[in-house]
Amino acid sequence: MKILLLICLSLSQSYANKIIGGQNADEGQFPSMALQTNLGSFFCGGTIISEYDVLSAAHCDRISLTGHQVVAGTTKRLSGGVVKAVVGKVVHSAYDSSTFSSDIMILRVEHAFRFNDDRFPLTAAPFAIDRPAEGTPITVAGWGDTDISSGQTIPTDLQYVVVSVIADDTCNSAAAYNGSVLDGMICMGDMAGGIDSCQGDSGGPAYITGTDVVAGITSWGYGCALENKPGVYTDVAYFSDWIALYMIG
Ligand code: ARG
Repeated sequence: MKILLLICLSLSQSYANKIIGGQNADEGQFPSMALQTNLGSFFCGGTIISEYDVLSAAHCDRISLTGHQVVAGTTKRLSGGVVKAVVGKVVHSAYDSSTFSSDIMILRVEHAFRFNDDRFPLTAAPFAIDRPAEGTPITVAGWGDTDISSGQTIPTDLQYVVVSVIADDTCNSAAAYNGSVLDGMICMGDMAGGIDSCQGDSGGPAYITGTDVVAGITSWGYGCALENKPGVYTDVAYFSDWIALYMIG
């Protein structure tokens, strides 16, 4: 009986793979997608929102500016694209690492991204002004863990998965996050599990599917892709005035 249960568990875990449950992105599919490196090592995602500004999560701010770079214009974690030094950052003053409240940060790059360069498909994502309604399809992208069953499995190719906006009531229910989803957060995922962002996807974009509009910043979750534990994202629309104030454009 115990052995049967273990087999079922390992089968369901190996099934729950990729971003979790996603697929490889095509080159140029997400032209505002960026990744952050510290002394050359990948640690978080980001979204280009202007030629000098990259939107990310405040909890990705745990390193000094020395050795901090942003890479964009490639789906490959380890090659291609443009590399920019990060020379400044604005971390939301209300960010709280115990609740993940106000998990938002803007990075400033030293040299402007060039959006009309044929070699690299780059663009600035418009940021959502209105919170997407429950059920809205959302595409989450990143180089985060694709396999929670075997420690960290960080992919080389950018992964993406389509999830949907979950109502706060549902996400804050006793079976789910029981009140931990605060103002300025938005749940996006599938209450049934199987598809989700995961460790390493943080700071990266959740787009309104089929558009370049960034509506969420990958922030937190209990495990990854578990039933009743969807991903929780910073609600970009909630912070749109803050973004407009602090980006330099
Ligand atoms: N905090 C994680 C990171 O730093 C992101 C977690 C997202 N979790 C989830 N189940 N969607 O990469």
